[in-house]
Formats: sequence, structure tokens, C-alpha cells
Amino acid sequence: MLFLDRAETMFKPDFSLNNRLALVTGSTRGLGYAIASAYAASGATVIVNGRDPERTEAIAQSLNEQGATAYAWTQDIANFDALPKAYANLCDRLGAPDILVNNVGIRIRKSLSAASVHDINQLIHVNLSAAVFLSKLAAGVMLEHNPQPNGRIISLTSIAGHLARSGDAIYPIAKLGLKGLVNSLAVEYGPYGITSNGIAPGTFATEANAELVSDPVKGPVVIGRNPLGRWGQPEEITGAAVFLASSSAAYVNGHVLVVDGGFSVTF
Ligand SMILES: NC(=O)c1ccc[n+]([C@@H]2O[C@H](COP(=O)([O-])OP(=O)(O)OC[C@H]3O[C@@H](n4cnc5c(N)ncnc54)[C@H](OP(=O)(O)O)[C@@H]3O)[C@@H](O)[C@H]2O)c1
Repeated sequence: MLFLDRAETMFKPDFSLNNRLALVTGSTRGLGYAIASAYAASGATVIVNGRDPERTEAIAQSLNEQGATAYAWTQDIANFDALPKAYANLCDRLGAPDILVNNVGIRIRKSLSAASVHDINQLIHVNLSAAVFLSKLAAGVMLEHNPQPNGRIISLTSIAGHLARSGDAIYPIAKLGLKGLVNSLAVEYGPYGITSNGIAPGTFATEANAELVSDPVKGPVVIGRNPLGRWGQPEEITGAAVFLASSSAAYVNGHVLVVDGGFSVTF
């Protein structure tokens, strides 16, 4: 149908996530929590994930008390021996998530010369390989439960994927690798109704950055480079996350949406 045939239609974007089941990895604090809570507020049933059972349960309970439908899934997503069975059990219990957000990410801030083999393997394993493996599992189950799913896989990359900072060598490598995951998923699963996109946050005031935020020398340097002159607040990631999960983003596939206040376009 040509666009002109519908010239009298008024198009209204739909950002609601009613009847969706969303798993947000690492959602007991920081950006993951902000995304999970925004999904819940937009109508999705959410699965809160982290490694600490008390914290995971408490966050799910708090969302439920605010009128959401949330479940706790305490699981180390980097434990590849346990993950397939744990994910299958989760799907048996709650159904197949049709939105997966690969949010877990750790920091090991070291130069390449200072990083040990263990540091390198751990960071790549948790930040990249775990997202690859979980995406493979999740996409497989989405297709198994529904041959034409309206699936979404969203991966948290970073502006550090295209930039480098001395003393922080491995993290950018893993984050640029995640862009490869975004692309590979988009191409492999797009034909089956699952889109894959990324969100590249800039500098947000989360626990992972707590030291930097309060550092009297480095903190002002970070915000001094940002056109908006401040740290991002976790809730400021939620618009991008809801958009990419919604039906309004149905034709967006293989894209990474930068949310950094303009940090990465300054020089
Ligand atoms: N903050 C920023 O400025 C920024 C900038 C660019 C990109 N990002 C990316 O955005 C994502 C979120 O960052 P954040 O700053 O919000 O992180 P954060 O505050 O450190 O939160 C990390 C979350 O992941 C959970 N977690 C860690 N390892 C896990 C594992 N193996 N299995 C399951 N859960 C695990 C943590 O809970 P437990 O420790 O209890 O398991 C916590 O809920 C990361 O991928 C990060 O690289 C952040």
C-alpha cells in the first residue's frame, strides 16, 4: 500500500508494553533497575535478575507493591554450566520472555599492561560472552514458544565501545563486541520476528561509577566534557529502552541508540 493511500490516517505511536514479558539482566540497581521499572510502568510483566537473592526478591516485591507484576530470578548469568537449565526452569515457571535486555556489565579498570589473564577473561566472559549465550538461549525459546514472535533483544553497549581511555583497556573491547552481537542477532533472527538493538549509555551516576562521581579531580573532568554539563540519571535511559521494546520500534533492527548527553560528539 502506498503511503498516499493512507494520507488521511492519523498515526499514533504506541509505547505500551501490555502483555509483554521482559527479562532485564542485572536489574537490582542502576540502569537495569531503571529499565525494569519503566517496563513495569509501561505494562510489561518484568523479571528482575541479580545474584543476590534477598536483593532480587526485595526489588520484585517493591515493584509489585507499586502495582506492577514482577518476579525475581536470582541467577548468575555468567555461570554457563547452570544457565541453560536455569533459563528453561524460568520459562516453565513464567513463560518465554519476549523482551530480553542484556544489561549486566562489570568494570575492571586497568591498562592492558596491568590486566591479568584472569581480568581479561572475566570481563569478556561477563560483559560479552554471557550476553551472547543468553541471547542464543532466549531467541531459541522465543521461537519454540511462538514461531512468529514479536521479540526484542536489547543489549547495553557503551560509548566506550568506540572510544578508549588510558587505564581502562578491556571494557571497550567487550562493548564493541556487543555491537557485533547486536548485528548478528538482527540478521539471524530478524526474519523470524525478533529484532535486536543496542543502547550505548554515556556517563551515568550509578553504583558502578560511584568512585568517579565523587572523585574531586576526575568527576569534574567527566562532566566538563559533556555538553549538558552533568552525569546522566538512571531514569534517563528509560525512554530509549521503552521505545526499542515497543511496537513503535518494530522496524528498527541492528541499531545502537546513544544516550550520552552529547559526550561522544564533543572533541
Ligand atoms: N553507568 C554508566 O555510566 C554506564 C555507561 C555505559 C554503559 N553502561 C552499561 O550499562 C549496564 C548497567 O550499568 P550500571 O552502571 O547500571 O551497573 P551496576 O550499577 O553495577 O549494576 C549491575 C547490575 O548487574 C547485576 N549483576 C552483576 N553481575 C551479574 C551476573 N553475573 N549475573 C546477574 N546479575 C549480575 C548487579 O547485581 P548483583 O551484583 O547483586 O548481582 C546489578 O543489579 C552495564 O552493562 C554497563 O556496562 C553503564
